[in-house]
Amino acid sequence: MEFHNEVDASKMLVAQTHIINHIFSYVNSMSLRCAVDLGIPDIIHSHGQPMPLSQLISSLPIHPSKSRYVYRLMRFLIHSGFFAQQKVSEDDPEEGYILTDASTLLLKDNPSSVTPLLLLGTDPTFIKSGLEFSAWFQNDDTTLFETANGMSLWEYTSKHPEFSQVLNEAMGNDATLVSSRVIEKCKGVFEGLESLVDVGGGTGNLAKAIAKEFPKLQCTVLDLPHVVSGLQGRENLRYVGGDMFKAIPPANATLFKWVLCDWSDEDCVEILKKCKEAIESKGKEGKVIIIDMVIENEKGDDESVETELLFDMMAMVAVKGRERNEKEWRELFLSAGFNNYKITPQVLGSRSVIEVYLL
Ligand SMILES: C[S@@+](CC[C@H](N)C(=O)[O-])C[C@H]1O[C@@H](n2cnc3c(N)ncnc32)[C@H](O)[C@@H]1O
Repeated sequence: MEFHNEVDASKMLVAQTHIINHIFSYVNSMSLRCAVDLGIPDIIHSHGQPMPLSQLISSLPIHPSKSRYVYRLMRFLIHSGFFAQQKVSEDDPEEGYILTDASTLLLKDNPSSVTPLLLLGTDPTFIKSGLEFSAWFQNDDTTLFETANGMSLWEYTSKHPEFSQVLNEAMGNDATLVSSRVIEKCKGVFEGLESLVDVGGGTGNLAKAIAKEFPKLQCTVLDLPHVVSGLQGRENLRYVGGDMFKAIPPANATLFKWVLCDWSDEDCVEILKKCKEAIESKGKEGKVIIIDMVIENEKGDDESVETELLFDMMAMVAVKGRERNEKEWRELFLSAGFNNYKITPQVLGSRSVIEVYLL
């Protein structure tokens, strides 16, 4: 292939820009992590009005020799949509930094803060895993995480409490973020149920919100013993330490949020068969409720398609799972002995709600 003419050359320069942006795209996550490590979103938030560069610099825990670099970090993060600039006041032309919706979600005290997910996703265990793609394709390890860290993610969490805590916080904050929307938009999904098990429900933030909204519904959070140990239930909420592959407590409904995407098709069928047993012991009317992505959905815009594909790749890096399209979900349900399902697409951002029935 030869590249003689001018058209070829200009196309190649566009292609080169595309490749360069991909080569250095890790700078996006690393600079965001830097902003959070330095406390920039919280400092700007506490300032209470647009914060001039000089004041931001003097509030940061940085070496004086690095002051002149702050502007460049902020310029990059403004370009990525994490901060914006606004006039400090009507009669002052000076501009200051303000938060955007995205950086509001990075504030430490926001109960839906995405900071734990940022710390988790940029943790050395995951960064090391990302360097193992080609090695993993050539070995027989189950996940890249295992190739990089010598054990599965779940084994690692059981041995590293501080890592497990960040993971649980990341999941818990996401559950807090989605729970009000679940209650608002999907109320009918839970109406009429007498009992529900949130399988792999983590520290129970979603179950807590459901239990509060439906005081007559008996809610159980089932998760690994080290995740739920020491957690206190309340009137209609209890915690059970266990293994969903061994047994799921009997209930009218089982709920899975961000769980089945962690597992292979074979594992999901096994888990769903356990659900069938749990539901059938209460009669035939029960259902499985799944909050997860249904990919290749026609509602998807460019950003949500990228989120779906990134999550699918991360499921390959971290666990044995995958993201699934409708046909792939349907096959799992039929293989596990369920007969019907209903999808409410992308009602929770990139995630959908799937109800799976026995009848
Ligand atoms: C990605 S997290 C999702 C947590 C929660 N559903 C949420 O979205 O906030 C997956 C959860 O599955 C739990 N888990 C993993 N293996 C499990 C097993 N064999 N039995 C029960 N829970 C398990 C993990 O401890 C973790 O809390």
